[in-house]
Amino acid sequence: MKQICVVGIGYVGLVTAACFADLGNRVIALDVNEKRIENLNKGIMPIYEPGLEELVGRNVSAHRLTFTTSYAEALKDTEFAFIAVATPSGANGEADLQYVAAAAKTIAQTMSAHLIIINKSTVPVGTGDWVADIIKNNQPKPIPFAVVSCPEFLREGTAIGDFNQPHRTVLGSFDRDAAEKVAQLHLPLRSPIIITDLRTAEMIKYASNAFLATKISFINEIADICEALGADVKEVAVGMGYDKRIGSAMLDAGLGWGGSCFPKDVKALAFMAEEKLVEPRILNTVTHANYDRRRTVVKRIEQMLGTLQGKTIGLLGMAFKPNTDDMREAPSIDIAQMLVDGGATVRAYDPVAAENAHGILPAITMVDDPYDMAKDSDALVVITEWNEFKQLDLERIRNLMKTPILFDGRNVYDPAEVRSLGFSYRGVGRGFDGK
Ligand code: NAD
Ligand code: UGA
Repeated sequence: MKQICVVGIGYVGLVTAACFADLGNRVIALDVNEKRIENLNKGIMPIYEPGLEELVGRNVSAHRLTFTTSYAEALKDTEFAFIAVATPSGANGEADLQYVAAAAKTIAQTMSAHLIIINKSTVPVGTGDWVADIIKNNQPKPIPFAVVSCPEFLREGTAIGDFNQPHRTVLGSFDRDAAEKVAQLHLPLRSPIIITDLRTAEMIKYASNAFLATKISFINEIADICEALGADVKEVAVGMGYDKRIGSAMLDAGLGWGGSCFPKDVKALAFMAEEKLVEPRILNTVTHANYDRRRTVVKRIEQMLGTLQGKTIGLLGMAFKPNTDDMREAPSIDIAQMLVDGGATVRAYDPVAAENAHGILPAITMVDDPYDMAKDSDALVVITEWNEFKQLDLERIRNLMKTPILFDGRNVYDPAEVRSLGFSYRGVGRGFDGK
């Protein structure tokens, strides 16, 4: 049993805190957002993540997990402090480190004994050294500490599983002893542990996200070529994925990647490269291709409808991916806005992200049921591949719609089957039409 403090209780911080508590540690979860902590103390989750409410509740009941807004309380007798605050995009694509700086400064001012400070936030290469300077310069009197980089690789929607079965744990530090102690915390997960220097660990995180985003953009480009040449990208991806050097993950063609991380991390890595006069050609192209994709999708919907003006379009799903309520950089935001700008009336259904979506897009109407949304719609567009869309009663949907037009932005449906029901159907990269 170790005493751990997690600073920043968002998607990463809350999962990290609850999962470390579940391993038997004593965890104090700290956030500056008073409402968030007040709610957590009442058992109200700030985010939707499958399994999280039960996990948090169980560990709170066992007195292994507590919540606070007080740094003094959180750091008392604590050996490890994980920083998991947000690092959003700044004005020029750089990572905005204001929250990391604020957290590090308050830790320095509050700590009273040796502390291992662990950067879990995704931070630019060199931030570990910078955090060490902040700590040193803000301590009222010198207290020994170590900084370790421990980047997070979990995905939203499967975060608890990803925490418990990581592909690897990456640790970076110049203090080998501190890194070994952080490694001990991760031993029960039985994943490969890589200990390297601070900057290399920070780079592994950015390189990983940039590679995954590039892989998705690659299959999206292949999808467009498939569509033009009469091949089916879903089958192409399966065929490619059997090659172990390629692997089958991240080969689902669709509307492009969104979320709180790929967009900002690819831009931040490009920014770091440019600062050092290295031209990030691939990274810049990938970012442009990804944003262009949203425009292309809207053009395709317009082609199917003839015009957007005066049409009623229903969006199935709004979250940037299924099993989350996160709307950060969701492709749905740009797509819905472009449809509205083109003169369409847009309605949307999302089982979990509706409230967040409504806050961002007041111009669209959120509905409570996909069938209500289909009623008198000119077209439906699959934006997020929620499980509950996979076996909708499409016959009923067709009968409710004004015109049975279906743009399947996530290739959820079988084109031949949907067409046989009388829909005008277009997926992504489904060029093979059965002939
Ligand atoms: P988030 O926005 O969900 O949560 C951040 C939390 O930090 C908020 O609750 C905020 O109130 C709190 N905070 C801000 N300043 C603070 C301070 N000074 N002291 C204490 N708390 C403070 O962020 P997130 O999505 O969990 O991301 C956190 C970091 O993890 C980012 O760097 C991100 O790139 C990285 N990451 C995120 C994911 C993901 O799936 N979301 C996955 C891997 C890595
Ligand atoms: C991603 C990474 O997968 C995590 O390893 C990483 O920790 C995290 O970013 C982060 O740094 O925040 P996440 O954004 O939660 O996780 O979700 P993904 O499943 O990777 O999906 C990201 C985006 O790519 C979504 O918009 C999704 O729809 C899209 N995607 C994903 C595709 O279009 N095709 C795919 O095959 C996979």
